[in-house]
Formats: sequence, structure tokens, C-alpha cells
Amino acid sequence: MKRNNRPTELLFRKAGISEGMSVLELGSGPGEVTEVLAGIVGRTGRVVAVDRSEKMLAMAKERLQGAGVENVRFVCADLNGTADYLKDVELASFDVVAGRRVLMYLAKPEAVIEGLLPWIRPGGLVVFEEMDSTMCPGLVGSMPGHEQALVWLGQMLDGEGAQRAMGLLLPAVFAKAGLHFERIWAEAVIEGQGDQFPLGQMLGLLTPRLESTGIATAPEIEALIAQINAERDPSRVFVSAMRFCALGTKPQDA
Ligand SMILES: C[S@@+](CC[C@H](N)C(=O)[O-])C[C@H]1O[C@@H](n2cnc3c(N)ncnc32)[C@H](O)[C@@H]1O
Repeated sequence: MKRNNRPTELLFRKAGISEGMSVLELGSGPGEVTEVLAGIVGRTGRVVAVDRSEKMLAMAKERLQGAGVENVRFVCADLNGTADYLKDVELASFDVVAGRRVLMYLAKPEAVIEGLLPWIRPGGLVVFEEMDSTMCPGLVGSMPGHEQALVWLGQMLDGEGAQRAMGLLLPAVFAKAGLHFERIWAEAVIEGQGDQFPLGQMLGLLTPRLESTGIATAPEIEALIAQINAERDPSRVFVSAMRFCALGTKPQDA
């Protein structure tokens, strides 16, 4: 099962990330976004990808090796601390700081971004794709299985201390970090239309997290997946979240 990362690529290109740029990626996870970024900047660009999870970094390295990508360096570090992991990196050398679904997990995302300003060139871009699931679902009629799935996923994220409204908070985070806020745009995450993991598959992938947070047992999740599959109908739209992308720039005089 492979996620389609094309929407993220389009959002990043629209924000101005382009060939030859030097990118610092925060919270690279299994490397899907890293691969997108490496593809956009090409051989003349480079990506430094940071995550605190050794397991995620190992998956990402394998993924990028498999894709023959060579312009990426992975770093294991906790973003919540000071940016010591960049001590050997020249100041003002990044054109871009970017990431997807990572600021929502940071206690003080504005402080993390502010701490990275010395490594961003004046006028450099800060680009994040973050979700908001607090304004969803959006649907006509009733799809109780789908709706229940969103309740569980919301409870899971709340239990993990994630900020589910981060998409909407991006402008405020950027302003507090000392960036010049440029713009924000969004698109709906629509279930069952081929764009994302369908919700049932998402529940399957997240079963360990749903179980460990005490929200549902594996048999309950399986039963809900069956209900969701029964509800799926290509003529119906179910909006499970909004995907926001925001662009900020480092002021010339910062
Ligand atoms: C939801 S995943 C997103 C992964 C990837 N950006 C994507 O969209 O596919 C969040 C990632 O952020 C990482 N992360 C969360 N908090 C972090 C922190 N304080 N320091 C470094 N990485 C962190 C997690 O390890 C995880 O890999």
C-alpha cells in the first residue's frame, strides 16, 4: 500500500521550493516527504532530514536508497532542544525549512522555528503542510462508520498531545517565530476517491496506536473497518480533514 504524495509535492512547488535549493526537513518520518523534496531540488540541491526516531530514519534511508536518491543526509535529533545537530552546518546556508505533519507534535513549534532562523538565508522559505481535523467531518447525510473513525483518530491524537488544529494555527506560529507570513492555502482530504489512504486502511495502519492509547481493541477496529468498507460509495464525498500549507519567509534583516 503506497500513499500518494503528489498533493504534498504540488503544495511545496506552489510555495516556491525548486531545483537547486538546500532544504532542512523537520520530522522526516519514513522519508516520503524527503523523497518528494529530494526530487524537487534535484541533484544540484540537497536535503538534510531530521527526526528523533531511529526506526523512522532507518525506514527513510532504506526508502531513499531504493529510489537511488543521493542528495540527502539524515540526522537523528529531538527538535524540541537547541539545534546542536546543526553545529557543523554553515549559518544562513538553507534556502528552505520544510515539513509535513510535524509541528502538530511539538510543544512550542514557534520556538523550534525561531531557533533555526540563523541557518536560513535572509528571504529563505519556511513551508509546512499541517492538518486540521477539528472542522471535519464534512458530508451530506450519514456515514456512521466514517464518523466513528474520526472520533477515534481525534481521541488518539488528543491522547498523544498533538495539536489537531495546527493547520489553522500556522500563520500565528510563523508570526511568533519572527517570520514574515506570506500566505496559506488548503485543500480537503477526501476519503474513498483515491487521493489518500482510505479511512479503513488508515485505521488498520494505526491499530497499534489506537490500542496503546486504550481507544479501541483490534477486533473493534476490524469491525469498524468492515463497516467503513460497506459504506464506501464512489458517488459520495466524505471530508476527513483539511490539509493546510503555509509559506513564511525569513525577514532580510532578521
Ligand atoms: C506524523 S509523522 C510525519 C512524518 C512525515 N513528515 C510525513 O508526513 O510522512 C511525525 C514525525 O515527526 C517526528 N517527530 C515528532 N516529534 C519530534 C521531535 N520532537 N523531534 C524530532 N522528530 C519528531 C516523529 O518521529 C515522526 O516521524
